[in-house]
Amino acid sequence: MIKNICCIGAGYVGGPTMAIIAQKCPHIKVTVVDLNEKRIADWNDPNVDNIPIYEPGLSAIVAESRGRNLFFSTDVDSAIDEADMIFISVNTPTKTYGVGKGMAADLKYIELCARQIAKIAKSDKIVVEKSTLPVRTASAIKNILEHTGNGVKFQILSNPEFLAEGTAVADLLNPDRVLIGGDTDAEGQKAVQKLVDIYSNWVPKNQILTTNIWSSELSKLTANAFLAQRVSSINSMSELCEKTGAEISEIAKAIGMDNRIGSEFLKSSVGFGGSCFKKDILNLVYIAKSYGLNEVADYWEQVIIMNDHQTARFAKNIVKKLYNTVSGKKIAILGWAFKKDTNDTRESAAIYVADNLLAEQANLVVFDPKVKEHQIYTDLNHLATRPHGENIEGVTVVDNPYEACNETHAIAILTEWEEFKTYDWEKIYNHMQKPAFIFDGRNLLDKNELERIGFVYQAVGS
Ligand code: NAD
Ligand code: UGA
Repeated sequence: MIKNICCIGAGYVGGPTMAIIAQKCPHIKVTVVDLNEKRIADWNDPNVDNIPIYEPGLSAIVAESRGRNLFFSTDVDSAIDEADMIFISVNTPTKTYGVGKGMAADLKYIELCARQIAKIAKSDKIVVEKSTLPVRTASAIKNILEHTGNGVKFQILSNPEFLAEGTAVADLLNPDRVLIGGDTDAEGQKAVQKLVDIYSNWVPKNQILTTNIWSSELSKLTANAFLAQRVSSINSMSELCEKTGAEISEIAKAIGMDNRIGSEFLKSSVGFGGSCFKKDILNLVYIAKSYGLNEVADYWEQVIIMNDHQTARFAKNIVKKLYNTVSGKKIAILGWAFKKDTNDTRESAAIYVADNLLAEQANLVVFDPKVKEHQIYTDLNHLATRPHGENIEGVTVVDNPYEACNETHAIAILTEWEEFKTYDWEKIYNHMQKPAFIFDGRNLLDKNELERIGFVYQAVGS
């Protein structure tokens, strides 16, 4: 039985996943390690509301187990040494250099973990791939681990994570399924069973699916590709709706009621963001190309092309509707996170819309309930479109939505935060330049009500 777990990587996946394992398995000691000292210090902050990741319900769960059987530490070596099972939950971003630049997953952090485990381990270990990885990564990890020459035996499992940000706690407590892939020989199956036993503490057995390791690795990329494809599919239709008088929300409802299609993931938007959809599809495209499967690659690449198009045309439409110029005009951006209920901004559509509007010399005022000012500037600087000073000049970040909208020519809604619905829109209207425009990138607000107040309201696909 597993008594001691180490998780390398205290990010959006490692932190919440291990907090739930610690809560549900009080008999297991769980240590989450990371090289990032600030991140670990934040996880250990005496005020549990200051943990580095905002997820509804997470701080209470951390508070319950932290210091009992859940620990956060920078001492990677000791945690590896003590553990029977090691989860690798480090980032796997798109490569920014060399072969596969801009497409392939950068596996350097994964390899560093494997080498660290090989160096430190003195007893047999089960190594679990929690990060999203290209199919067949397990064989590379295995290769590194099997050449230590010190007699330590390793089993590699694939256990991809399907949680979505903003609902991480609910997803982890009540997952649609848990997927575990391992070697098909007896030793491999023993390792698989040990991980099944951990999840069985709270997940019904029929929802714990075991497969061979390659199927498990590739299922994760496939799941994200399918989800993103649905968003691109509905977004492609939104453009057609705007030309024809059809309503995208009515279409989504009409097709979603077909059981074979299903109603989830059919919300038209300014475009999907998040750290994973784009990187995982690019990775899939790269893998397909590397096997010479060019049609497969082109098919999936179109999902990204459509998404980029959706975001770009949203920004272009703002310029067009504001009489073809936004130069010197004040525009409020409500929402910077890539979706509601998270402070994560990675690949958020807001970054690209803002960048496009800044290129047109707009003055932006940004408000997001959970994203901090420095993050907004970091995101814009990261694009390297213009010097930092110009981003500071063009963008003001405020912590009050009414202040954000004051004296603006237009408001762009870029994240579907529930609180936006509750604002006093009449008051906002009274303090705006006229005509007062709202570009709702999330189809969040009540069109009839806003038009009654006097806004020129434009939603996606309407
Ligand atoms: P993240 O960037 O939030 O966290 C990764 C952490 O790993 C960082 O804090 C980093 O400092 C740490 N790290 C990197 N190399 C290290 C090393 N050698 N030793 C110790 N720590 C190290 O990333 P994330 O969002 O948690 O994603 C992790 C993986 O999970 C990715 O492969 C991602 O595709 C996958 N995933 C993410 C989500 C999500 O919602 N974010 C969901 C499912 C799967
Ligand atoms: C997604 C998947 O849903 C998770 O299963 C997966 O584990 C995760 O990626 C990952 O591998 O990182 P996440 O990116 O956190 O989770 O959030 P989603 O709810 O999938 O939303 C992604 C983006 O698509 C957001 O920008 C969201 O606003 C957008 N979206 C989603 C739409 O525009 N329309 C929809 O109908 C659904």
